[in-house]
Amino acid sequence: MLQLRGDSGPRWIAVLLLWAALCCLFVPAVTVKHENFKTCDQSGFCKRNRQFADAAAATSSWASPYTVDPATITFKDGELHATVLKTLQIGQEKVELPLTVTFLDSGVARVTLDEARRLKGDITLRHDSKARKERYNEAGKWALVGGLKVADGAALSETADEGYTKVFYGEGSKHQAVIRHAPFGIEFQRDGETQVKFNERGLLNLEHWRPKTEKPAEEKREGEEETKEEEKKEEIAGEDESTWWDESFGGATDSKPRGPEAIALDITFPGYDHVFGIPEHATGLSLKTTRGGDGAYSEPYRLYNADVFEYEMDSPMTLYGAIPFMQAHRKGSTVGVFWLNAAETWIDVVKAKSSANPLALGVKSHTDTQTHWISESGQLDVFVFLGPTPQDLTRQYGELTGYTAMPQSFAIAYHQCRWNYVTDEDVKDVDRKFDKHKIPYDVIWLDIEYTQEKKYFTWDPLTFVNPDKMGKQLDKSDRKLVVIIDPHIKNTDNYPVIDELKKKDLAVKNKEGNQYEGWCWPGSSMWIDCFNPAAISWWKGLFKYDSFKGTLPNTFIWNDMNEPSVFNGPETTMPKDNIHFGGWEHRDVHNLNGMTFHNATYQAIAERKKGELRRPFVLTRSFYSGSQRSAAMWTGDNLAEWSHLEASLPMILNQGISGFPFAGADVGGFFGNPSKELLTRWYQAGIYYPFFRGHAHIDTRRREPYIPGAPYTEIITQALRLRYQLLPVWYTAFREAHTTGAPIVRPNFYVHPEDERGFAVDDQLYIGSTGLLAKPVTKEGATSVDVYLADDQPYYDYFDYTRYQGAGTHTVSAPLEKIPLLMQGGHIIPRRDRPRRSSGLMKFDPFTLVVVLDKENAAKGELYLDDGETFDYEAGAYIHRRFAFDGKRSILTSTNAVPLGAKFTAKLEAYLKSMSKVRVEKVIIVGAPKAWKDKTEVVVMEEGAKESARRKTVAMEFHAGSGKQADWAIVRDPKVGIGRGWKIDFS
Ligand SMILES: *[C@@H]1O[C@H](CO)[C@@H](O)[C@H](O)[C@H]1NC(C)=O
Repeated sequence: MLQLRGDSGPRWIAVLLLWAALCCLFVPAVTVKHENFKTCDQSGFCKRNRQFADAAAATSSWASPYTVDPATITFKDGELHATVLKTLQIGQEKVELPLTVTFLDSGVARVTLDEARRLKGDITLRHDSKARKERYNEAGKWALVGGLKVADGAALSETADEGYTKVFYGEGSKHQAVIRHAPFGIEFQRDGETQVKFNERGLLNLEHWRPKTEKPAEEKREGEEETKEEEKKEEIAGEDESTWWDESFGGATDSKPRGPEAIALDITFPGYDHVFGIPEHATGLSLKTTRGGDGAYSEPYRLYNADVFEYEMDSPMTLYGAIPFMQAHRKGSTVGVFWLNAAETWIDVVKAKSSANPLALGVKSHTDTQTHWISESGQLDVFVFLGPTPQDLTRQYGELTGYTAMPQSFAIAYHQCRWNYVTDEDVKDVDRKFDKHKIPYDVIWLDIEYTQEKKYFTWDPLTFVNPDKMGKQLDKSDRKLVVIIDPHIKNTDNYPVIDELKKKDLAVKNKEGNQYEGWCWPGSSMWIDCFNPAAISWWKGLFKYDSFKGTLPNTFIWNDMNEPSVFNGPETTMPKDNIHFGGWEHRDVHNLNGMTFHNATYQAIAERKKGELRRPFVLTRSFYSGSQRSAAMWTGDNLAEWSHLEASLPMILNQGISGFPFAGADVGGFFGNPSKELLTRWYQAGIYYPFFRGHAHIDTRRREPYIPGAPYTEIITQALRLRYQLLPVWYTAFREAHTTGAPIVRPNFYVHPEDERGFAVDDQLYIGSTGLLAKPVTKEGATSVDVYLADDQPYYDYFDYTRYQGAGTHTVSAPLEKIPLLMQGGHIIPRRDRPRRSSGLMKFDPFTLVVVLDKENAAKGELYLDDGETFDYEAGAYIHRRFAFDGKRSILTSTNAVPLGAKFTAKLEAYLKSMSKVRVEKVIIVGAPKAWKDKTEVVVMEEGAKESARRKTVAMEFHAGSGKQADWAIVRDPKVGIGRGWKIDFS
């Protein structure tokens, strides 16, 4: 708003009022620009394959034209090879497709199908294209890091029926792949029951290479009428060439030098009602059907990383990142597929009445979920997971694509961002204001305006005069700075970065093989090609402290716009016929592009100086399977609207079960000005995002937590303090994600896989394995929320210990100042209660343990701690405790969660020494037994302590709860070391 000075008269006020009124009238409807993005019908290969599916469904005699040639089948060392033949209706010509089915030690099966002719490079490209001739087969090179050990035990079945080949694999040979020869299809069974079917509906379609021939106009003899069925068959035979060759959209033409080359397959999950995964979409956790009908989508889910700002809620439209991993869930079983393909991909989801025998063993729903996967190019490469638990799926997917990197501890605290803090003085001022208002924060961020004319690796000399001094002020409170660096490099004079990029020839090329030039924030730009190892080496050099002057060890990096976003490109990205290192078309690698970039930045930060030992932090907008190894993500440019707050929860839950749990949404909403209520509620929800950052668009009003004033500032501060208090819980959850692939925030189905009523619940979240259950308020004016409890354990209000019990819905009061958070009985929750300015200052603070008893008066929990900064934890330098409360003996114990043994290294010793004074200062027992009513002391025993300190009595207070409130007890200062073994006897 303009400021009114003393001399402003009524005239000015009138003008301002008019201006304000006009603004209200002309605020453009903020909504995604649909016309910029393709529908399935506008994407030739998607349209063709949907037609193919329609034709197959409408043709009674439909048979998939793919067969396995039995003579070609070989099986050796856990791998089956065969040739699949695709029969062309015309002339019965056959296309050879080499098939490999690999049975992995983990019980996962991998199926690949390629095209023999393309493998040999025996094709000609149109338009003198410089592209490679093979189908793209390197997605695994970027996405996979392990889990590929082939099973020793996999074996061909000796009792195979005619026309089938069967392989037993997996632990105890519980898994079986039944490969049908004609038509080709595979059923994956567990314990004799089919869980996943390939090509059941006959939609396998590998569009083989063919030359473009100019056909004479079609002639039809008089009186000869084609039946509908014949027309359909003809379509399927590939007669409709209208979308085969050069394709135009939004004024750009894709030259498609290889012609049509899609790969599509139907995958059915028999007896499964729910499918989850395939982020990123602004949609509910349980995926909807996509072929129209009541409340369903009519477009398939799309995966084509794009800059879809102001995106729309409840939509299968593509967003910034892609993880083609889907899991199907029913009571007693979770299975899934990972479609390893980096090209544009569409996925149709249909729920059909179950074809399964209703008398079959096992609990099944009466629904089959049928999916149809359609990718524009590349080989077929699919992993099949047979569970049977959701934990098996996240672990096995993590074995393949890597687990979440262990972040530095500051990275899971609060981040303060805006486009833009305008000067270094502004940054320092915000920093001081947080302190003045006693609001904790760890990281302040700079968007693109800090640079000199959007030239990355420079500072604007007028506004960021002394970045060093700024960084040092932040460091005084152990705070960090994150600056943005994007992949587009300004194409201008007197900018050494672009000169080197050009000279060293490290940019993405256009279809003619020249360095591609497009438009982004800086205007004319070129894009670093991180598929090129030389580009990564060069990139690493740019971040060295003596190269990127003004950065300090507490500077970290934000990679935005890496889909890549190209303002003047088709669908706001690069032309698909652009060419990357190795000769691959952009079409083939598009969804991988963002990951190669943020991974290069990760490597750069890991090597800024010789002997750098600290973990990098990089935030990325674009991602793919594997991104979790080197970045955090956020859900991009959302809106300051209640619907966007609501949608953030299922989106972040979905990231968690899809292997990339370090996720968050812009708190407050990026575009627009949130009401104070919305801002407050958003903070109260944002404290449950694994990645927790407030961010705002350049056109919005300032909204740092101290801005809204009473009572909002105080309420937001309370929320932030709760996040900081629970940082030990968050860090322990990250450790679990890092070692097992478990999500950091978890949906109901993941925690209660047997609870059918809760499978689709996606508006409340469990934090790690702690039993903390949060239900953020996402509705304007709400004063209560309904929390869904899946079991009949007692649940207690986090703040006042009000007890809720009984499976079903419970109403929890939630006036503005209240954050709905329950503790499930049976857990021990580690906290740090002392308010500090930043997480770094809490490093040696004492702990509080909250012991929440279950129905049997028992509880257990874990705490993981390390230095929060270096990689020493890899050498065993950490504290990992297991706490248990034995309900029968009333004894609380702390033991090592993992045996130290061989890992007792010098680094561990040093770490334990540094933590030797850190103690437990409080133990709270929630749901304390009535029998303790008159108890006043407990006996504490600590191992390794001095003789005199080994056994001592410590005071305990018992508090009788009133009304629905639980009884609770508190032991103040038992003085036991956090890294030690000890017992507290309450008996
Ligand atoms: C990421 O970087 C590592 C080296 O730190 C490299 O081995 C890996 O291939 C890279 N992955 C991607 C996806 O770029």
